[in-house]
Amino acid sequence: MSSASPTSAAPSPSTSTATVPSWDVRRPPAAPGRVFLVTGGNAGIGYFVAEQLSATGATVVLGSRDPARAELAMASIRARVPGARLRAVRMDLADLSSLPTAVESLTRAVERLDAVVHNAGVARDERTRAETGDGHELMFGTNHLGHFALTRWLMPLLSAAPTARVVTVGSFAAKSERLDLGDLQSRQDYRPGTAYGRSKLAQMYFGMELDRRLRAAGSTVASVVVHPGGALDSLTPSRPPLHVRTTGAALRAAPAALMVQGKEAGAWSAVRAVLDPDVRGGGLWGPRVFGLRGEPRPERVWKHLADASVAARLWEASRELTGTDPVAR
Ligand SMILES: NC(=O)c1ccc[n+]([C@@H]2O[C@H](COP(=O)([O-])OP(=O)(O)OC[C@H]3O[C@@H](n4cnc5c(N)ncnc54)[C@H](OP(=O)(O)O)[C@@H]3O)[C@@H](O)[C@H]2O)c1
Repeated sequence: MSSASPTSAAPSPSTSTATVPSWDVRRPPAAPGRVFLVTGGNAGIGYFVAEQLSATGATVVLGSRDPARAELAMASIRARVPGARLRAVRMDLADLSSLPTAVESLTRAVERLDAVVHNAGVARDERTRAETGDGHELMFGTNHLGHFALTRWLMPLLSAAPTARVVTVGSFAAKSERLDLGDLQSRQDYRPGTAYGRSKLAQMYFGMELDRRLRAAGSTVASVVVHPGGALDSLTPSRPPLHVRTTGAALRAAPAALMVQGKEAGAWSAVRAVLDPDVRGGGLWGPRVFGLRGEPRPERVWKHLADASVAARLWEASRELTGTDPVAR
């Protein structure tokens, strides 16, 4: 990619769609020599983020808890992107104590990180509350605390790049949620949909607060929050053996395409947030059509998400729960 304008000195994010520079989701700019990490890059949206970033000539590292699944994903990308530069690093976001070792192994393979996409996520339907091995509610612990702690360990690699980005994948579902700062772990009132939405909202507060703290620290790293809209497997092109969409499933899902999209398109916001030199730290990006499908565009930061006092309290709680601080002062 040609030189990107520094995100560190960036002004407040644009909230106007009228001024959005054009962007071709099917032809993102080349980025040879750059290094990107995608958590959960072995499946779903994360796989397509990795595939699309690989096509830019960059080195893409798949963070995956299962090396065999990472191998399948890399084989699929190589079949589509000749000469793709790929690596995998074993990474379980539900196990906080494993993350320093995961990042150590990454540090042996790459000298810097130009972006990390915090994509991995777990969404449970079961009515019974589950916990990580560390004793955190599973979705809050994996989706939010896992990425919070991972950012801490990745910071030296990110700081070694000229202008790195942390791209956090949130969810449109978080727009209608509010955090319960007195019960972040959903111990008192567990409902799976609410706990998931709150875990995604926590991630989004984190992404916003991270940018404020990085700016205050004079860091060259910027933080951007994105969401993929609604992304269904049944609208997602096949990538056998990772994902196979039958003709029947595609036909049955066709009406849903009026409202939502597949995971290939769900990757577009994150890919733009990684590559577009015009994307600014502290920004929120999502699909153009009702926030659910279509090409990525900047969104006005949701009113509750702009509440820096909630974000700061969540940060303090997350620091205590993980014993780490991504931007230690
Ligand atoms: N799909 C949607 O409509 C939608 C909407 C809004 C937001 N999102 C967000 O977009 C992201 C991707 O969603 P998706 O639909 O692509 O999900 P997905 O197909 O279920 O893929 C989730 C990915 O996260 C990985 N993962 C789960 N737990 C992990 C852990 N403990 N450690 C490391 N990796 C872990 C999975 O690895 P395994 O293969 O090992 O399970 C998989 O690679 C998530 O953050 C999700 O919350 C999705």
